[in-house]
Amino acid sequence: EIYGDRTNSLGMNMNIHSQADDFIAAVQQYRDKQWQGGPIVNGKTIETDHHVSITSPQETAKHAGSIYWGDKKLAEQALESANKAYRRWRDTDVEERAKALEKFADLLEANRNELIALCSIEAGKSLQDGIDEVREAVDFCRYYANQARELMGGPIQLPGPTGETNELFVEGRGTFICISPWNFPLAIFTGQIAAALAAGNAVIAKPAEQTGLIAYRAVQLMLEAGIPGDVLHYMPGSGAEVGSYLTSQEDIGGVCFTGSTYTAQAINRALAARTGAIVPLIAETGGQNAMMVDSTALPEQVVTDVVASAFTSAGQRCSALRVLYVQDDIADRVIDLLRGAMEELQVGDPMLHETDVGPVIDGIAKTNLEQHISDIQQAGRLIARAPMPDYTQGGTFVAPTAIEIDSINQLVKENFGPILHVIRYKTSELEDVINSINNTGFGLTFGIHSRNETFAREVASKIDVGNVYINRNQVGAVVGVQPFGGRGMSGTGPKAGGPHYLTRFITEKTRTDNI
Ligand code: SER
Repeated sequence: EIYGDRTNSLGMNMNIHSQADDFIAAVQQYRDKQWQGGPIVNGKTIETDHHVSITSPQETAKHAGSIYWGDKKLAEQALESANKAYRRWRDTDVEERAKALEKFADLLEANRNELIALCSIEAGKSLQDGIDEVREAVDFCRYYANQARELMGGPIQLPGPTGETNELFVEGRGTFICISPWNFPLAIFTGQIAAALAAGNAVIAKPAEQTGLIAYRAVQLMLEAGIPGDVLHYMPGSGAEVGSYLTSQEDIGGVCFTGSTYTAQAINRALAARTGAIVPLIAETGGQNAMMVDSTALPEQVVTDVVASAFTSAGQRCSALRVLYVQDDIADRVIDLLRGAMEELQVGDPMLHETDVGPVIDGIAKTNLEQHISDIQQAGRLIARAPMPDYTQGGTFVAPTAIEIDSINQLVKENFGPILHVIRYKTSELEDVINSINNTGFGLTFGIHSRNETFAREVASKIDVGNVYINRNQVGAVVGVQPFGGRGMSGTGPKAGGPHYLTRFITEKTRTDNI
C-alpha cells in the first residue's frame, strides 16, 4: 500500500514556450521593484533603528530594497506574546489550523510570480528554481495540514480494566524557534513554520540574514491566510544576536534549524547550557554527498545526472553532489563527456529562460569557493570550468568547476557551491570507497549509477545516508515522495516532508478516566 495522497502541486513546464513566455514576462515585471520588510510582532511590521540595504547577488551594485532588523529586545517581546498565545492555538481545533495552512498554500500559488521574482532578486535563484521553491512550499503546507489531521484528529484509545478508559492525546509543545537558510528562502522557511503551526505550536521565525525580504512576504501571506499575529512572529536579524538570544531562552518549546553543521552544533550547546525544560532540536544540515558510477553505467545518462546534481542552484543545495567516484574502466569517457557538458552550461542572469546556473549567494561565499578551487587545484587536476559571460563580473558568480582529486580526505569541509570533485576507483577498492564515504561523518544524499541491480542495491544499503538515488540525479526531493533529511553530521531527522516529521513538534499526554 502506498502511503499518503499525491497532492503535490504541479508547478509549470518551462519547455512549453507559450506558457513559459507569459510567465517570464510576468516575473520580470518585478525586476526593478524596491522591496521593503521588517520584523512582524503581533501582526505589525516594526521599524527598528537597524535598517539594512539589500542588493542582488547577480548585480551587487543595484539596490533591491531594504529591511529592518530585529534585536534582542524585540525578540523578547515576540517570545512573551507567543508564549501567551500558544495554549489558545494548541487548543484550536486541528481542522482550523489545517485550513489556515491550506489557505496560505493557495495564496502562495496566487502570488507565485512575485515570489519567484523575489527568489531570483534576493537569492539569485533561476526561474526553474523559483518554480520549484513555490511548489515545495505549497506541498509542505498541504502535507503537514493533512498529517496534523491524521495525528491530532482525536485521541488514541488504549486498553484498560473495566470501567476505566485510557486515551493518548498529542498536542503542541510551546513556542518553536524556526531558523531557516538562504538556499531555500521560501520552501524551507515555510516548511518549518507550517510543521510547527500544524502541530499546535506558536512560532518565532528567524530567516537567514541574506533572505529576509522573501520570508517577510511569506509571513504577510500567512497572516492574511488567518494565522493569528500573536501565534506567528517574524524576526529578521543577526544570528549572533537574535538567533543566539532565542535559542538560549528557558521558555521555548523547541528549535527547528536548517543550515550549517557548525551552527547546529552551536545551537545544541546553547540548548544544553540553558536551565528549564529539555526541548527538541530538529536540525537539517549539509553533506559531503557522493555518487558512485560503475563500469556498467551509461556514461551519457551519468553525465546528465552529474551536471544536474552538482550544478543545479549553483550547487547551493544541501543535497548537491560534491564527490563523484568513477570506476577507472569508464572514467576517461565520463570525464570527456562531463567536460563537453560543462562547456554548454549557461551561467548568468537567473531571470532569463536560458540560464542554467545563477550566482552564489554573496561575496563571502564567492571568495571562499574561489579559494577552495585554487587550493584544491594544487593537489588535483582541473577537468573543466564552465564559461561565463563578461557581465557576470558585476555579481557574485562562480564558474561551475570540476576537479579530479585522489582522495575524499583532501576535502576538509563541505564546499557549498558549484564545485565537483572526481575520484577514480578500481574494483578492488570498492570497500575502501564505501568506508571513506561513511567516514566523512556526514550522511545526507548518495547516488549510484549501475545497470547491475544487485550491486546497486547492495552498495546503497551500505552507505549511511538519508536519501539514496539509483540511476538518476540526487537533488530535488519531493515532499511526500522523497522525504528529505540525513543522519550523523547531516542532521537529526525526522525527515522533512515525511510521515514522521510532525512527531518531533508534539508532546504526548495520557488520560486515565474513572468517571
Ligand atoms: N530538498 C532539497 C533537495 O533535495 C535540499 O537541498 O535538493
